[in-house]
Amino acid sequence: MVAEVFDAVSVIRTKRDGQALSDGQIDWVVSAYTAGLVHDEQMSALAMAILLRGMERREIARWTEAMINTGERMEFTHLHRGGKPLVTVDKHSTGGVGDKITLPLAPLVASYGLAVPQLSGRGLGHTGGTLDKLEAIPGWRCDLTNAEITDLLESVGAVICAAGAALAPADKKLYALRDVTGTVESIPLIASSIMSKKIAEGTSALVLDVKVGSGAFMKSEADARELAQIMVEIGNDAGVRTSALLTSMSEPIGLTAGNALEVAESLEVLAGGGPADVVELTLALAREMLAAGGITGVDPAENLRNGKAMDVWEAMIAGQGGDPRASLPQADHEEVIKADKSGVVGSIDAMAVGVAAWRLGAGRERQGEAVQAEAGVRWHVRAGEKVVAGDPLFTMYTQTPDRFAAGAHALADAAVIGSAAPQSGSRVIGRVTVDA
Ligand code: URA
Repeated sequence: MVAEVFDAVSVIRTKRDGQALSDGQIDWVVSAYTAGLVHDEQMSALAMAILLRGMERREIARWTEAMINTGERMEFTHLHRGGKPLVTVDKHSTGGVGDKITLPLAPLVASYGLAVPQLSGRGLGHTGGTLDKLEAIPGWRCDLTNAEITDLLESVGAVICAAGAALAPADKKLYALRDVTGTVESIPLIASSIMSKKIAEGTSALVLDVKVGSGAFMKSEADARELAQIMVEIGNDAGVRTSALLTSMSEPIGLTAGNALEVAESLEVLAGGGPADVVELTLALAREMLAAGGITGVDPAENLRNGKAMDVWEAMIAGQGGDPRASLPQADHEEVIKADKSGVVGSIDAMAVGVAAWRLGAGRERQGEAVQAEAGVRWHVRAGEKVVAGDPLFTMYTQTPDRFAAGAHALADAAVIGSAAPQSGSRVIGRVTVDA
């Protein structure tokens, strides 16, 4: 039989004209792009065609598999503690503003005896990254070997580290390209990006936090639900017990966005306090992860109150070279934005806060840039609260005060002050499982 021959232009044309890609086209283009045979400009055109034309479920599943096959698969089935096998459960968020939930969640879930291999990423654009946040802790490092990850999971139960270069390398290359070509907000590309990493990571169960709203990639509940359903199906088909929560991302989470600021807020939650919405999300996701790992009938709030989750946090940070008791870096410069009228806060715009934190130095504009641990935004009011003209709305923090103008510009209309209080509700707006 003569082997089929592919070329980038005909693959691009197929999708541009609204047709489904064949399995052979998908396998070839993903592997050829990773190997450098398909060029960035060709993959950009294909990513845009996928964003505009969409993909069938079969195509998304095959694209995910092709991305997994560009790298190694990790294996956690051999983990043991006290002679008993350990069950691994991971969580992945589609990305939000002030989303520091991984920080208290991983040690909390581990404190009930599950192993949490949290392979995380860096922030890009307006959304923060877990690794950038944790690097605010003096000495902490994210580049661990597979042996170090295994040791920490068996001894401490939780590890938050960078996915190695060998894990789904196609996604690393494609995600960076999508970020600079306006092709992030595509359901097939987000689903395959997340699920390729999570399946390759080898976790036995996975809980997805699919964000919906102005500060999320999915602006509507219908799109978020579709994304969640596709990821849940792909995960379960690959043997990973996967479920998803849909959670609101119109308002930023907690009271801070920025690296050291968010670590400090996470420590408040681990000490049994912290903003109510951060606690709500942490507990909802913890319940989902514990159930996925076979643990029922416990109230995860208990181990926040009694300090057991904090003990795991301290062991996890120390195990990765960090000093959990060291002071966190604080910005040399801060500037307050005040309310220009009295009234009730109708909303705080998550996207505006995310962009402001990024511009103040908490995020990067180009791949590989250093971020400022100290930079970010604190908001002093929440939707529904009364303010009087002159009250502080936001404090901006940075090491480079020439950034204040850009931060203030982003925050100019971020707090809407009116006369009516908005309806307040739970952050959790839905749940998606394989049979729902
Ligand atoms: N997170 C990912 O890992 N990939 C995406 O495409 C979007 C969010």
